[in-house]
This record gives sequence, structure tokens and C-alpha cells, in this order.
Amino acid sequence: MAFIITSITLLVLLATFLLVPPVAGYVLSTALRTVGWFLKNKTNGRREVILSRVRVEEEEFRSKQSSSTAGPEDEDWERVDSGAGVANNGEPVGDDWEGVIGFFHPFCNAGGGGERVLWTAVKATQERWPKAICVIYTGDHEVTKTAMIERVETRFNMRLHAPTVVLLYLSTRKYILSSMYPHMTLLGQSLGSLIVAIDAFNLLVPDIYVDTMGYAFTIALCKYFFPSVPTGAYVHYPTISTDMLESLDDGSGVKGLNSGAGAGWKGVAKKKYWRLFASLYGWVGSKVDVVMTNSSWTSAHIDSLWGPSRKILEHKKATVVFPPTAVSELHSSIEVSSASESTREPSILYIAQFRPEKNHSLVLRAFSRFLSQRRKDPATSSQRTPKLILIGSVRHSSPDETHIYNLRLLAHELHIREQTEFLCDASWPAILSHLRTSSIGTNAMWNEHFGIGVVEYQAAGLISVVHDSGGPREDIVIDLGDGATGFRASTEEEFAAAFEAALALPEEEKVAMRLRARRSALRFTEEEFSRKWIIELDKLVSQQHSHQQRKPLI
Ligand SMILES: *[C@@H]1O[C@H](CO)[C@@H](O)[C@H](O)[C@H]1NC(C)=O
Ligand SMILES: *[C@@H]1O[C@H](CO)[C@@H](O)[C@H](O)[C@H]1NC(C)=O
Ligand SMILES: *[C@@H]1O[C@H](CO)[C@@H](O)[C@H](O)[C@H]1NC(C)=O
Repeated sequence: MAFIITSITLLVLLATFLLVPPVAGYVLSTALRTVGWFLKNKTNGRREVILSRVRVEEEEFRSKQSSSTAGPEDEDWERVDSGAGVANNGEPVGDDWEGVIGFFHPFCNAGGGGERVLWTAVKATQERWPKAICVIYTGDHEVTKTAMIERVETRFNMRLHAPTVVLLYLSTRKYILSSMYPHMTLLGQSLGSLIVAIDAFNLLVPDIYVDTMGYAFTIALCKYFFPSVPTGAYVHYPTISTDMLESLDDGSGVKGLNSGAGAGWKGVAKKKYWRLFASLYGWVGSKVDVVMTNSSWTSAHIDSLWGPSRKILEHKKATVVFPPTAVSELHSSIEVSSASESTREPSILYIAQFRPEKNHSLVLRAFSRFLSQRRKDPATSSQRTPKLILIGSVRHSSPDETHIYNLRLLAHELHIREQTEFLCDASWPAILSHLRTSSIGTNAMWNEHFGIGVVEYQAAGLISVVHDSGGPREDIVIDLGDGATGFRASTEEEFAAAFEAALALPEEEKVAMRLRARRSALRFTEEEFSRKWIIELDKLVSQQHSHQQRKPLI
């Protein structure tokens, strides 16, 4: 049954994309709405089961709480204050909003940055709307809810309220693996995600639908099936970026994998295909009620791809909601004051994977230039010689190993081997100790999308010297109105000059800059993420609330 629905839907979708005339569009949307109605009717029974199970678990939880006086959970249970939301009809939507929020996150057990976003979002949602049920559509069959919640606690140091978390297991996740589609991967994965989405809606139709993994086509499908379900997206990375489209025409070979691939007939075909895909993706944007992105870079790309089709919507622009990082931990474990200045050495720290795009060689050359200038200058030649510390992970039996060998060779050639330290796969305590005792943190990658490492430098009170592009330029090393939080550079000469300028700051200004950097890093805490997440989700809750009041049916 599900398979037939799937095939028909895909065929019909494909047909409309090709035909597009309004009549076909009308027939299609009516057909999909009917399918949606059947799905909803079909899953209503499961919905009741889930609701009653949640009630039972809540009861058990509460009785356990009251028997063990003041359980540990209470300490964590601080409220996130956002002010009550207001529905379109003017009535406030209070804490007592009851509904099911479906999170589409097929890989919820991966334990990476994307999962930190998911679980922090779930936690924030639970604190703001305690009666809401957070359903996660996942393909990780091997984890039970209890195991998952424990894992979130050990991995992210975050305690969720178990009763209102529900995992629903997808059986079709394989359709979104890129390995399924050796050719036309973008299109294949996007259509594959529709199958997985049907699988999800066949399990339960949510009251609000949020995609947190970048499968935007599933949102469009949700909108067609259930026009009254508000939709949201948290975008880490646009499925196709304007950089990608431009890189096809670029012959210089410096802009990544596909640069210059636009030549020849294959190139022409590829270009056509990408353009077509980009316009399809752009159209999908019009089906997302609220868009959040993880950085200004992503926001700019999403606005340029989705902006035109989103003009008709209420919330037109994407909002940047920075992902939560370990800033609070660094704040509490590293001191920044004039007293702690004596424990800092004149060292320059670079934490990054040993990969070519991180451009360690630029840092080595700049460091060498900086040292030789220092030796020439009588004011600095007698001072302690600064050190360069490179910390990074190395994937074994990978090109990284050759890369790091070449970097050591370069350090040797530049005569800075004595002053340069390579640390591979350092432990967190070792990294922490270097963050505590170094003076400068650097990053030389061109167009880094964000740079969590740079945020960590700031949180640790290091003075940043970073490449003047991408996230470090747009989001991180910026002046928040009370002065610079670091230095930006592009060339070897500029990096060398910035190292010198940072070390030469008078002590008072040095400490002041470290403190400013530290304050600036507070924009990337878990609390800040939760605050913004709730503001955005509130828009969806209000929409859902007013839909429900207008039209109880369907
Ligand atoms: C809707 O679901 C109910 C049971 O949940 C069933 O009795 C009814 O026939 C369904 N309606 C349709 C049109 O499928
Ligand atoms: C946003 O997500 C992309 C893709 O996962 C990642 O490369 C980038 O660093 C992320 N940005 C932030 C601010 O974490
Ligand atoms: C490293 O930086 C230098 C100087 O800006 C640049 O010429 C070179 O292309 C960069 N290398 C990489 C791999 O980005």
C-alpha cells in the first residue's frame, strides 16, 4: 500500500514538475491533500496510543519524583523566558499548548553537531511547552528511547524530560543515503527523502513539522499533504549553494571539487541539471513557514535561493540561530584577568584538522616571517621567542598523514622547527591546558563557513588572528560596539603583522580585548540557542493554534 502511494506520488510530482500548468497543479494538490487526509485518518489510532502512553509515563515520572524527595531533575529545570506568544487572533498561546511536534532527523544517534542542535532544541521546547510531545522520526532502530536519552546525557551533558520524547522508527532510511545514487545524487537523495517522509507520515501526522537535517523536499511534501500543518527548517547547509553553481564556470582550480567542471558537453549537461535542481530547490523554499540557519553564510545562501519564492510568506527571511557550543564549559574552567596574564606564554595556537584547506602552510610562513622580523627589531629581539602550536586530528591511513609530513618538512625549511610543535589527536584536557596558557588563536582557512574552533579561542580568552573571510569575518571576530575582539588577515604579511600587533598590545588592553572576545563568545551558548529557538518555534505554535481554532476538521 505504502509503496503504491509512494510510486504514484513520485510519478505525479515528476509529471507536474515537467508540465507545471496550473490545472495540473490544482489536480495534484487536491490529490495529495486527499492522500494526506487518508494518512491522518489512518494514523489517528496510533496518535491516541502515543498520547495515552505519554500520560502514563508522566504519572510514573511524577510518582517517582515525589517518592525521591526533590529529584535531581529539578535543578536542571530552569525556565527559558521568552514572553508568551500571541496567536494571530490575539489570544496568547501559553505554556499549556498541547500538540505533537515532529522532528525529521533520520540519524539522531550520530552524536555530532547536528544532533547537539536537535537535542538542545527538544530540551528548549520541553521547557517552554511542557505539554508538547516531541516526536523524532529516526532510522536508528538499534537504540531504544531510554538508551538514547542516556546517550544524550553522557555525550552532550543534557538531561531531557523522558515522558514527552517519542522516537518513531523509519524503515526506509536507506533511500536517503548518497550511496544509493551514484549518478544525479542531489536529485536522487531529494526524491528518496520523499519516500522516507511518507514513511514518517504513515507512522504519525504531526501538528507541527520541523526538518533538522536539511531534507527540505520533505517539508514541501508535508505542506501538500497537510496544508494546515506549520512547517519549519533548521538549515546547516543549503542542499545546493550558489558557490557551487559559480564554481562550474571557474577555471582557476582553487574553488573546490567541481571548479572548472563546466567545460565540454558533459559540463553543459551538468550545469543544466544543477540549474534545474536549484530552481526546484528554490521553489521548495516557499513551503517552509519558518527558516532558521546555523550561520550568516548559510542564511545568505538560503535567502538568495529561497528568497524569491518566499516573498508571499509571513516570515520571509531566514533567521540565524547559532548552534550551541561548549562555551560555558570554557568560561567556567579558564580564568581571564590581569592576574592570569602571567600564566600565558607568547604562544600562537592553531586548532584545526590537518587538511589542505585549513592552510597550515600559510600560518607556518607567516610565523617564520614574524619571527625573523622580531629578531631584527631591537625592542623584541631580547624577549622570549614565541612558539607556534598546531593541534589537530589526523585520520589514519589517509592523505592527512602525508600532509602533516609535508608540513613538518616546510617548518624545517623555514627554520622554525624548534619553535613549532605538532600535536596530533590531543586529548581534551591537553587542549584545554593549551587554551589556558597560549596568547593567540589563529585560523587561516579561506571561507570557513563558521569556525567553532575560533569561538572556543574567544571563550578561552585568546586573541584571535583569523582569515578575513567566511564565518570568522561575518559572525565571530566582529566588533560588537565596544571594540575589536581580535585581528583579521589575508596574506602572509598581514598574518605576520597581526601576530606582532596582538603580542605588542599593552597589558591592560590585552586583558580588555580577551574579555571582549569572551563576551562575544556568549552569543554561541546553549542558553542563547534555546532563547532564539523558542522565538522561532513560537511562530509555528501560534500558526497551529489559530488554524486549529478556525477549522477543527482535517
Ligand atoms: C478513518 O478511520 C476509521 C478508524 O480509525 C475508520 O473506521 C474509517 O473507515 C476511516 N475512514 C476512511 C475514509 O478511511
Ligand atoms: C553549519 O553546518 C555546516 C554543515 O554541517 C557546518 O560546516 C558549519 O560549520 C555549521 N556552522 C556552524 C555555525 O556550526
Ligand atoms: C593558502 O593561502 C595562500 C595565501 O593566501 C594562498 O595563496 C593559497 O592558495 C592558500 N592555500 C589553500 C589550500 O587554500
